[in-house]
Amino acid sequence: MISLPALLPRFIVTVLITIILLFSSASAWKKDEFRNCDQTPFCKRARSRTPHSLPHFTLSDPSISDGHLTARLLQSISSSDNDSAAGDAPRPLLLRLSVYQGGILRLKIDEDHSDPSAPSKKRFEVPDVVLPDFEDRRLWLSRVSSSDDGSTSSVYLSEDFEAILRHNPFEVQVRRKGSNDPSISLNSHGLFDFEQLREKKEGEDWEERFRGHTDTRPYGPQSISFDVSFHGAEFVYGIPEHASNSLALRPTRGPGVEHSEPYRLFNLDVFEYIHDSPFGIYGSIPFMLSHGVKSSSGFFWLNAAEMQIDVLAPGWDDAAAAVKGRIDTFWMSEAGIVDTFFFVGPRSKDVIQQYASVTGTLAMPQEFAIAYHQCRWNYRDEEDVASVDAGFDEHDIPYDVLWLDIEHTDGKRYFTWDKVLFPNPEEMQKKLFSKGRRMVTIVDPHIKRDESYYVHKEATDKGYYVKDASGKDFDGWCWSGSSSYPDTLNPEVREWWSEKFSLQNYGGSTPSLYIWNDMNEPSVFNGPEISMPRDALHFGGVEHRELHNAYGYYFHMATADGLLKRGNVKDRPFVLSRAFFAGSQRHGAIWTGDNSADWDHLKSSVPMILTLGLTGMSFSGADIGGFFGNPEPELLVRWYQLGAYYPFFRAHAHHDTKRREPWLFGEQKTALIREAIHTRYSLLPYYYSLFRKASASGVPILRPLWLEFPEDKETFDNSEAFMIGESILVQGIYEEGQKSVSVYLPGEQSWYSMRNGAAYAGGQAHKLDVFEDSIPSFQRAGSIVPRKYRFRRSTTQMTNDPYTLVIALNSSLAAEGELYIDDGRSYDFEHGAYIHRRFVFSNGRLTSSSIDLAAAPPREKFSSSCTVERIILLGMRPGGAKKAVIEPGNYETVVEPGPLVLRAGAGSVALVIRKPDVRIADDWTIKVL
Ligand SMILES: *[C@@H]1O[C@H](CO)[C@@H](O)[C@H](O)[C@H]1NC(C)=O
Ligand SMILES: *[C@@H]1O[C@H](CO)[C@@H](O)[C@H](O)[C@H]1NC(C)=O
Repeated sequence: MISLPALLPRFIVTVLITIILLFSSASAWKKDEFRNCDQTPFCKRARSRTPHSLPHFTLSDPSISDGHLTARLLQSISSSDNDSAAGDAPRPLLLRLSVYQGGILRLKIDEDHSDPSAPSKKRFEVPDVVLPDFEDRRLWLSRVSSSDDGSTSSVYLSEDFEAILRHNPFEVQVRRKGSNDPSISLNSHGLFDFEQLREKKEGEDWEERFRGHTDTRPYGPQSISFDVSFHGAEFVYGIPEHASNSLALRPTRGPGVEHSEPYRLFNLDVFEYIHDSPFGIYGSIPFMLSHGVKSSSGFFWLNAAEMQIDVLAPGWDDAAAAVKGRIDTFWMSEAGIVDTFFFVGPRSKDVIQQYASVTGTLAMPQEFAIAYHQCRWNYRDEEDVASVDAGFDEHDIPYDVLWLDIEHTDGKRYFTWDKVLFPNPEEMQKKLFSKGRRMVTIVDPHIKRDESYYVHKEATDKGYYVKDASGKDFDGWCWSGSSSYPDTLNPEVREWWSEKFSLQNYGGSTPSLYIWNDMNEPSVFNGPEISMPRDALHFGGVEHRELHNAYGYYFHMATADGLLKRGNVKDRPFVLSRAFFAGSQRHGAIWTGDNSADWDHLKSSVPMILTLGLTGMSFSGADIGGFFGNPEPELLVRWYQLGAYYPFFRAHAHHDTKRREPWLFGEQKTALIREAIHTRYSLLPYYYSLFRKASASGVPILRPLWLEFPEDKETFDNSEAFMIGESILVQGIYEEGQKSVSVYLPGEQSWYSMRNGAAYAGGQAHKLDVFEDSIPSFQRAGSIVPRKYRFRRSTTQMTNDPYTLVIALNSSLAAEGELYIDDGRSYDFEHGAYIHRRFVFSNGRLTSSSIDLAAAPPREKFSSSCTVERIILLGMRPGGAKKAVIEPGNYETVVEPGPLVLRAGAGSVALVIRKPDVRIADDWTIKVL
């Protein structure tokens, strides 16, 4: 490059430079660093197969054992077959089918280790993801019914569903009783394949090479693949994590699809990922949901090896007529076993709850954790921290958590502090905490290989690191230079790791310090695809290839356990992780990683977060402003306005970007950002109630519209708008200078603009003006949303503030809503220490009553002296009421026109019941007259 100008005429140089610039800005993503399907032998092999082209599998000897159905699965050998595995007669596989309460079928297929010719190496079965009590919900199968001709067996699945096993060729169908049409099926297209472990044949080469890295593959080919069909489905969703503009998963193969990669599930640190690609990024959840007007179903494959999934376009199999209302998918994994779960639904929320009964619901966070977080790589030193903190107070903007990235440490040795930049970390944290604010520091899994670093020394001495293929401690390059990685698959290592977070062990930490796990895919700068070699070895001889997608899960788990122990199981942990797997919701929050400061990334954040919510990871968000690059102020404001609704609400930026604290873009922008953050703080009572609901049932906080309006086809492919719980709909603004937007409002009831109280009819799209001060948001008629409208420095200081109830009446002049409150910190709520209220408005009367979820009388009590200071009624004609009478007490207060939002210039659009001053914890009735 340097010598070019000397050799070439200036004009050509200019053209070349332009091309280079264009190219590099369009694809900062270093695509070549990562394998595509064609470079991944198991994927290429599997994907090249056509339906029913393999020697088929036959099921034999179905019987009941220990309440499971077990059978053998044998691959027929066709004489014409000279495939890769030819020469080894396939051994029968073991199949086990189990049924669980609530409409869940579990299908396991593995090698039969009782077979003396089976290799001694056992395939990896992921432990610690399925909830320990899941087995308690197993239904004991006592008989298997066979069809008259003996070609199928069936078992009871639920009152409405049964599972049918076809013997030859092997197929599994879940279907409604009395119906001939399945709702989900496996191997209907004969693509099931299972590469059995075997001896290496002479001259056979098992090694795989990619960009200078060699994977020794000592156990050879061991991939598994099969097809899964979702019947009665309009769309399929789920299988994060991919950057995408679309919530519904687009087909990756078949008629009308240009060449596309399958959806890849392989946790990777992808530098500058592009906003729309099936390429795998930081986390993996192999759970897919289907949805149609009549029903939903779900499928989960518990397998932590690299997975690739094709969504097949109708007609992919050259069938003469594409079957309408069926979506076929094709699942491929490099290793592991078949351990799959079928969820019958039939409603989409049922599917989500069925999945949650297997992998758990989100851990209830502390209240501060759902408020606003301020982060940057890096807040330089204690002075910088103090001045950012003061900036929020000066500009009257609340925030709850200040974050420190890797530079706060002594040379990227986690659990240490740079003594020059952060000489008094405890004092710094205490100062923040005096305003109710917390701090988060980063702790990554790459441990600096430095003999004088105690963490490294202990891990080395105890043999706690992941090993390389030769059995030595794996040594890779990361932020800390030469580094090794704790093997948190091993429970003993997790125990050791968790102890590192105690106040004694983590010098300079205080109880108000929480943790962030980054780079836990794991990221290894000099490794294949910037990660760990697949032939690295974990506890129990497990190869990294078998565990890869769950490495970050275990690290996250061990860290969260550490905080739990530090607080004596009285302080709910907060740990943010970048990598995740099925079940990570039990350990903390995640974010969508290193996005970019552009409008496309703003837009893809919504389908990404919605997908995470559908697959259990409700507590998630995207970096406000975009991590890479410098957002234009307009983009930054729009991002705050959207991000204020993300379940996890944090601003973050790369260290090469310009500073972007909310007050750095002029007074007017500061005011807009302040208003966006205020919106979130005002909705915290509603959000906290939704978090509680999500932690109890698994139903996400941010929801696709179709989750609330499952029969409305208009909503199925909407990736731009979302529901917060059941009551609020938000439409993002994703374009610069956008003047108007079309918003589809579902349902029969109307919607009230949260900006000005205007009512809009449901069941249609509205073309709306776009304003600078907010993005379109609506409260659904028939709902009651609790809010708090006094803004303080942080949530802690809002604890005793009074509530405002916003009542949006529907056409029958009725509405209802809920409020959940507890101490915001501890686990006492699990023993009854909470307040849970139901508000119902009907016949001109608002009543508040208690919802008691607990069957047993509470062991702990929680009280609150909070009152209701204001009740806003939307949808009652002006002058529709003049006063309100409150019972008990029989006292009166005025009802008068008032504003909906407490902002200067907001007009009177609602009726306001002034100062009812009832206590939030009490039963009461307010009658408007
Ligand atoms: C299978 O392999 C045998 C011996 O290696 C060979 O003679 C035969 O032609 C092959 N058959 C096919 C269908 O490729
Ligand atoms: C209005 O809302 C109430 C309370 O949520 C509900 O019971 C009622 O069915 C709704 N009315 C209509 C017409 O939807």
